[in-house]
Amino acid sequence: MDARMESQAPATSPPVIHPAVAPLSFLLGTWRGQGEGGFPTIHSFSYGEEIHFSHSPYKPVIGYTQKTWKLSCGEPMHAESGFWRPKPDGTIEVVIAQSNGLVEVQKGRYSFEEKLIQLQSEIVGNASKVKEIRRCFQLVDGVLCYDVQMATNTITLQPHLKATLKKL
Ligand code: HEM
Repeated sequence: MDARMESQAPATSPPVIHPAVAPLSFLLGTWRGQGEGGFPTIHSFSYGEEIHFSHSPYKPVIGYTQKTWKLSCGEPMHAESGFWRPKPDGTIEVVIAQSNGLVEVQKGRYSFEEKLIQLQSEIVGNASKVKEIRRCFQLVDGVLCYDVQMATNTITLQPHLKATLKKL
């Protein structure tokens, strides 16, 4: 090998993906799809949704942004963003700020084999009604499926959202 070329090469190549994020790298990118919402106290509804998971190889973090809209006219609905922090031991911490002012700290586990992430709220802040939120995401045949359950001051844990999204 040419010694001059060898000396010009960087000591170490930059990582393509942070090792902590690697088990969840299937999430990275932009997803678009549709969902259904409901709760015992409201009328059911359907919505369009886009989710974007981003990543810098130098940080053990996945950036998360989500927006939803009315399917009939495209009018914006709920939006949220935050950070997903997977750990090598299979646990994960997620912080989310919602457009309605509510904030969440979620803790849970992920499975690389099952492409599954299960989250349960440890903190729900600045919420007038919501007491608890559970979120479950799974990749099934290349489709990202999730459901959200919540408990309020009057209703025990019940489904609020269910959606499926395909990667763009
Ligand atoms: C974890 C995320 C979310 C939480 C914690 C949340 C919380 C709530 C709560 C507490 C209610 C009122 C229930 C009641 O009055 O008893 C509600 C209603 C509603 N939510 Fe959500 N929500 C979330 C995500 C979303 C998303 C993504 C959408 C739209 C795609 C959405 C659309 C609605 C609609 C249309 C209603 C009924 C109308 C209304 O009261 O404004 N929500 N949600």
